[in-house]
Amino acid sequence: MVDKLAKHFPCYLANAAVHTKTELDVLDKFTGKRATRVAFADAALVRKAIVAAHKARKAMAEFPPDARRDVLEHCVRRFTERSEELALALCVEAGKPIKDSRGEVTRLIDTFRIAAGEATRIGGDVLELQISPRTRGYRGMVKRVPIGACAFITPFNFPLNLVAHKVAPALAAGCPFVLKPAAKTPIGALIIGEVFSETDLPKGAFSILPCSNEDAGLLVEDERIALLSFTGGLVGWDLKARAGRKKVTLELGGNAACIVDEDPGQSLAKVVDRMVFGAYYQSGQSCISVQRILVHRALYPKFRKAMADAVGKLRMGDPKDERVTIGPVVDEAAAKRIDAWMDAAIAGGAKAIVRGKRKGNLVPAALLEKVPRDCELYRKEAFGPVALLEPFDDFEDAIAIVNDSDFGLQAGVFTGSLAHAMRAWDALEVGGVIVGDVPSFRVDNMPYGGVKGSGLGREGIRSAIEDMTEPRLLVVRDA
Ligand code: SIN
Repeated sequence: MVDKLAKHFPCYLANAAVHTKTELDVLDKFTGKRATRVAFADAALVRKAIVAAHKARKAMAEFPPDARRDVLEHCVRRFTERSEELALALCVEAGKPIKDSRGEVTRLIDTFRIAAGEATRIGGDVLELQISPRTRGYRGMVKRVPIGACAFITPFNFPLNLVAHKVAPALAAGCPFVLKPAAKTPIGALIIGEVFSETDLPKGAFSILPCSNEDAGLLVEDERIALLSFTGGLVGWDLKARAGRKKVTLELGGNAACIVDEDPGQSLAKVVDRMVFGAYYQSGQSCISVQRILVHRALYPKFRKAMADAVGKLRMGDPKDERVTIGPVVDEAAAKRIDAWMDAAIAGGAKAIVRGKRKGNLVPAALLEKVPRDCELYRKEAFGPVALLEPFDDFEDAIAIVNDSDFGLQAGVFTGSLAHAMRAWDALEVGGVIVGDVPSFRVDNMPYGGVKGSGLGREGIRSAIEDMTEPRLLVVRDA
């Protein structure tokens, strides 16, 4: 594997591998050493990619659905064959523990498999137009047509699967695209590009260009791009403001909450097990990582103890070690910020139940309580291995606390009460409510996205295809 990373990775312009004079160093997030170098596109390349994608609209729209399916099935096969290589690349470039890396590769394959299925199921509607004497003899039909060239900007935390959630539905829908992967973790996207280049996609169907945020601005502002899909931080709202007439999809994270009801509906041991997973997998660097844990006061002491014991046992270190849960966060700046937010919360009255000392970009798993509701650790997205415990007395109070957030992506509810489960579904201001599990649960065909500051629109292959296609009406008058 190390040998595989030793090569310099090209970027992809209009389906072709391109090496650039300027290259980007990709660091091994655990050792801090350079793992490899990848091509780094400049503004001229980004402009060429936009022209190529715009030009490829017709060819992609006419590329038949079964051919799109075949391309996506080819990807499923190749990712399956290369799965261990992909997992190791993730482990190195993202510092993602190997068990989580393997999990992400499995999901990458799922995502492409779902897209392959959807490629030949993009249907339409038959409309009854005969609603009055005036409209007798008219028939209506709606089909979905590809929206055109798309631009995608993806984050560092799921270098494979969050790329897949944009590129796979684009191929299924018949849309050419330009992708800017995260500069800190571009390898996954470039291996996906390598696999795309083995197919007979029409020229211009895809460009994958690591580039600066400034040059990615061309993708945001160019009117030839019909849709911008961005996953990342709150800067997404600024991008939307600059995006002109194009459609915009945003997935911007959150500070996800999970309620543990008086009757959680399952043993406390099981709840704690899932909570530890939800809060600390890949060091909390997920938009749906559990950040706020609300526990009914009757269970609080027992839950607090069991959670503290479990969190205290999490192993931190080399993400290649199968026993490690807490690998490095993406860089030292992120680690320092997480630490500083914890310090500020503690200065404001919070109590650390579990907390260790940071070593570079390794932040030990932390569990805090009595965290003031107005501090950054409570209100913002922590994106690190830290969870906040809080008791509640009444289920309605718990709902109000979950909703007391600028975000609303997913929420989890452990309850044995059907009435409470339904109430949560009705009242929680989020894109998805997960009953009996943590908010961190996601299957790749679910509609996925948030409300409030968490974003706009939904991903999950079918929802994304809906965004990437437009309805086109046909009216036929009987002769
Ligand atoms: C995210 O961090 O936005 C994605 C989470 C997931 O796909 O599980």
